[in-house]
Amino acid sequence: MSAPATARAVLDLDVPGPVLSRHLYGHFAEHLGGCIYGGFYVGPESEIPNQDGIRLDVVEALRELGIPNLRWPGGCFADEYHWKDGVGPKQDRPRMINTHWGDVEENNHFGTHEFMALCELLGADPYITGNLGSGTVAEMSEWVEYLTRDGDSPMVRARRANGREDPWRVPFWGLGNESWGCGGNQRAEAYADLARQYATYCRDHGDNRLYKIAVGPDQDDYHWTETLMKAVGTLGCSRNPRGYFQAIALHMYTVLGSWEHKGSATAFDTDDYYATLVRAARMDELITRHSSIMDCYDPGRQVGLVVDEWGTWWDVEPGTNPGFLYQQNTLRDALVAGLHFDIFHAHAERVVMANIAQTVNVLQAMLLTDPATNALVRTPTFHVFAMNRGHHDATRLRTALVEGPDARPVGEGSLDLVSLSASRKDGTALVSVSNLDADRELELVLDVRGGAVAGHTARVLTAPTLQTHNTAEQPDAVAPTELTTVTDDPRGLRVTLPAHSFATVSLTLA
Ligand code: AHR
Repeated sequence: MSAPATARAVLDLDVPGPVLSRHLYGHFAEHLGGCIYGGFYVGPESEIPNQDGIRLDVVEALRELGIPNLRWPGGCFADEYHWKDGVGPKQDRPRMINTHWGDVEENNHFGTHEFMALCELLGADPYITGNLGSGTVAEMSEWVEYLTRDGDSPMVRARRANGREDPWRVPFWGLGNESWGCGGNQRAEAYADLARQYATYCRDHGDNRLYKIAVGPDQDDYHWTETLMKAVGTLGCSRNPRGYFQAIALHMYTVLGSWEHKGSATAFDTDDYYATLVRAARMDELITRHSSIMDCYDPGRQVGLVVDEWGTWWDVEPGTNPGFLYQQNTLRDALVAGLHFDIFHAHAERVVMANIAQTVNVLQAMLLTDPATNALVRTPTFHVFAMNRGHHDATRLRTALVEGPDARPVGEGSLDLVSLSASRKDGTALVSVSNLDADRELELVLDVRGGAVAGHTARVLTAPTLQTHNTAEQPDAVAPTELTTVTDDPRGLRVTLPAHSFATVSLTLA
C-alpha cells in the first residue's frame, strides 16, 4: 500500500466569480433506443406506474437532481423529425423509420404534448431542437407558433384542438443538430446562412423569448466557430443586441480507440482508465480554444457556448441492438462527469449550458431501466449530478491547487490527478474534489481564505474497483456515503480521499 499523495488547495471565500448556471447540469433525450420508449415513456397501458404514459419513477429520480432542462427530440433524429406527425390522436399519427438509430419504426406516440407534459412533471425547461436538415423554415416557424403563441392563429387553433389551451413557455431553441454531419453534411458557411434564415422566422410570440442555439463545431473544428461568430449578427449596443442567435453549441464525446472499437464500458484496465480521463480533460482545451475565437468577435461574452452533447461513448452492451447505444456506467464514468463539471465551472463566463448524452438507457445515462424486472437503476454518474446539485445557480469561488502530486504521464499526454471547483450560495460553500489516482489515497489541505467556516459535512463516491457499477441486483454498488475523514487544520480543513473517488465538502460559513 503506497503512502497517500498530498496536496494543498487554496479556497477564496470572498472572491466571487460568475454564477454557475443550473443549466450546466442539463440533460438530453433523443428518440434513440430505450431513452424515450421504455425509458421516459411506457404508455398509459403499462403496468409501470405512469402519468399519461410518462414513467413516474424516472420523473422522481430526475427531480432529485433538480433537472434544469431537457433537450429533445435529438440529436440526429431531430433533423428527420416532423413535429406535425407527433400531435393529435395517437392512432392517427403517421409512422416513420428512425434511420439513424436502429432502423426501427417510430410510432410518434411521444410528441410535442407528451414532451411538454414531461417537462412540466420534471420542473425542467424545454430545449427543443428544430429540424433544419430535412425540414422547412415554415415547419420550424409553425412549431414555435404552435408551442408559444397565445390569442388566435392557425397554429394556436390546432394546439387547442389537440387539448392544450394555453401556450407553453419554451426558453431554448436549437437550430438543427450537427449540421456538419448527420444534420445535412453542410459546410460552415452554408450552415451559418441557414441558421440566420431559420432564426429569423423563429419568432418571439407574446412574452416568450427564444434563446436560439446554433449548431456549433464538431470538437476542434475552429473554422466552424469562427464562421458562426462572423454570422451571429449585430452585438453590443446595436439596435438588435440579441443577434440572430444567442449561442453556439459544441459536441465532444469521450471516446477511446476508434468508432468501430470504442472499448467496453465495464471490461477495461487501469491504462484505459487513465487514457479515458486524459481524453475527457480535453474538454478544457476545446472550450478554451473555441472561447478564444469567440472572444475576438464577442469580447463582452454575449454569445453563449452550449455543450449540448457530452459524455462517454463505449461499445454497446453485448447482445443489445448496436443502434440503441445502451451501455453500462461505472465509477470511471462518474469520475469523467466530475472532471467535466470542474471544467464547465472554470469556463462559466462563456459556457452557459451543458447537456449530458443521454438521460435514460443511452450512452452515459443517469438511469438504466431493466426490462426484465422493470427496476430503475441510478448509475454512478447520477450520483455525481446529485452531489453537485448545490452548485446550481451558485457563485463560483476561486480555487487553486498550489501543491499537489505530479501530473501522471499518460501516452503522449499527462493527467492532473486532482481536480476541484467550488461555489457559494445561501451561506454555504460547496467544494467538489476528485482524486483521480487509481491506487493512492489523497490528503488534501483546503487552505480556506477570506472567511470562516462554522461547520462541515462531506460525502464521497467511490467503489472497490474502477469497474464497479450498479445493476438491478446491486443498485447501490456505487452510491455516495458520508466522508468521515475531514478534520480541522490550521489552514482550514484536511480532507482524506480514497483512491479513485469523487467527494463534495459542504462548508457552513460563519
Ligand atoms: O447522442 C447520440 C448522437 O451523437 C446524437 O444523435 C448526435 O447528435 C451525436 O452524434
